[in-house]
Parts: sequence; C-alpha cells; structure tokens
Amino acid sequence: MKIKEIKASKLNAKKFIAEKIKEIRDIVGDGRAINALSGGIDSSVVTMLAHKAIGSRLLTFFVDNGIMRHQEPERIVRLFNRLGVKVQVVDAQDRFFNALKGITDPEQKREAITQTFYKDIFGGLVRGSGATCLLQGTILTDIDETVAGIKRQHNVFAQLGIDPEQAFGYKIIEPLVQLRKDGVRKVGAALGLPMSLYKRIPFPGPALAARVIGEITREKIETVRLATAIVEEELKNIRAFQYMAILHEDKVTGMRDGKREFGLQIEVRCWDSKDARKATPTKLPYAKLFTIANKICRKVPGVVSVTYNIASKPPSTIEAV
Ligand code: XMP
Repeated sequence: MKIKEIKASKLNAKKFIAEKIKEIRDIVGDGRAINALSGGIDSSVVTMLAHKAIGSRLLTFFVDNGIMRHQEPERIVRLFNRLGVKVQVVDAQDRFFNALKGITDPEQKREAITQTFYKDIFGGLVRGSGATCLLQGTILTDIDETVAGIKRQHNVFAQLGIDPEQAFGYKIIEPLVQLRKDGVRKVGAALGLPMSLYKRIPFPGPALAARVIGEITREKIETVRLATAIVEEELKNIRAFQYMAILHEDKVTGMRDGKREFGLQIEVRCWDSKDARKATPTKLPYAKLFTIANKICRKVPGVVSVTYNIASKPPSTIEAV
C-alpha cells in the first residue's frame, strides 16, 4: 500500500497530533504498548505522542546498545523524566557487540542490529510486559530508501513483506510514517518538546555502527564516539542539517613526536539538506576545518589523518555505512 505523504508545508501539526493520539488509543485499547526511545527526533516525538495518548500504559525503554553517542543514555533519561515520562534503561551492550562480531558488510551490519533490537530485545520486553505492540518513529525517508534498495533502514518491515507480528510476536505502530524530518520537527514543536530535542540533528538507528567502516569493536566505537563529540561541539552553531565523524578501516602513515605512527583516519561530513533525500556538503570555513582536524588528532588516540567529504548525495549518502 502506497503511503500518502504529508508535506511539512501542508502539515497542520495540532490536527495531526489529535488524530494520532486517537489512532494510538484505538489500536492499543485497554492494553499496554512498548516504546523504543533512542533520543533521536523521531523516537522522541513518538514517545511524547504516545505518552499523551495512553499515559502510564506506555512503557518506554531506552536500549543502551553501547553504540550511542557520549553520555547519551543518561542525558535522554534525565530529559524525559523532566517531561514526566519514565524511561527504563536496558543494558544490551554485550548482546549488540556479540551480534556485530566479525561482520564487515554494511547491509549485514544493519540486519544484525535489526534482529538484535526487534527479535532479541523487544521480543523479550514485549513478552515480559504483556504489551501487544511496539511504537516506533519510522518516517517516509526510511521507507523510500529501503524500498529503493539503497539502505536497509533498521526499522522498516511491512514494505519488505515482513509481518512483525509473525516475525517478532507483536504489532508495530508507526505514527510518523507519512512525514519527513521537517514535518516531524513541526510536530515536536507543537507537542511542547524542548527545542534542543526537536531541532537536534538526525542520528541513525544503527547509531555509531553506521559510522565505522569494517568490523565493529568496542575500541573502534570509542574512537568514533570521541571524534563525534568534537565534531558536534565544533559545528553546533553552523546550522547544518547533519554532521558527523566516520572511522575508516584503512590506516595511513603518520608521525608523532618524531616517530612513525601507522594510524587511523577520520572523515568529517557536514550536510546541507531539507529532508535527507538530497544533500550537499556545507561550505565550512577552512579555519573551522583546521580546528576540528587539530582537536581530533590531539584528543582521539591513534588518529593521524582527518579528511572532509566534498561529494553530494547522490551519489554519496549521508551516513557512510
Ligand atoms: P542516508 O545515509 O541513507 O541517510 O543518506 C538519510 C538519513 O537517514 C538517517 N539514517 C537512518 N535512520 N535508521 C534510521 O532511523 C537507519 O538505519 C538509518 N540510516 C540512515 C541518516 O542519519 C540521515 O539523516
């Protein structure tokens, strides 16, 4: 079934919220639902919508998969507690790193993350809680790219002929599926979320695993996490659509303290885009690029090379994996 897009310019956020609240209430009935909060814009908006719809019958979980940004679980739990939403953290770090062990192919990585999330973790949480459905923040761009075979987004099922009820044992509710990122931001603002949340740069479901080329290890994730924190801090006032650090698999010869160092390469990307379908690299000032490169080489152990991506999407994509 073709999904009818609601363009941000045509979106009446208040009306949309009222409709979605009713829809969620109708589907969940007297039961309970589970909600996966990652702290990204989409899952934050779904959490707030569902909280307004079914209150304490919504069980919100933050899955700490070990591949999130610096201090992300603590930050998000604190923020949602302040908004009146109780969030339970699930420590799933070992399960994710074990599932990702030895995998180098991008689509297999995404598949391993999907299976760990939906079958292993949410399957267990749904069974343990007596809930019948999972609410999640899939948006239209996720579906487009998956159906087009560009990237298997971690949260797309029906459009691939997968019935979540059969595959995982629960229904999936996707209130944002007609929107793109700009529309979701409008709904976030109308829901009263803090601007720091709804204006946040997008972050992918597969998290930092989408930013490590080759096999994922705890050590590589820590490297990209440190570099990400520097890039995010340096570019926070640039008003770009999204920015990130990527860890390459190949090493290059560098030098430190007069000695040869066969070291790591970080690629910085910063994108201008409206809705992630097309994107162009932001024309960052050279002085800013030098500051980022120097900081990364000084503060991220083992990094001897920093590059800036200047190719557009298409043919590039926003994330590297
Ligand atoms: P790409 O890399 O396909 O990304 O140009 C387009 C936008 O989607 C985000 N992204 C994802 N979001 N699950 C998500 O929820 C995913 O598997 C995923 N992969 C990419 C990406 O950060 C960008 O904003």
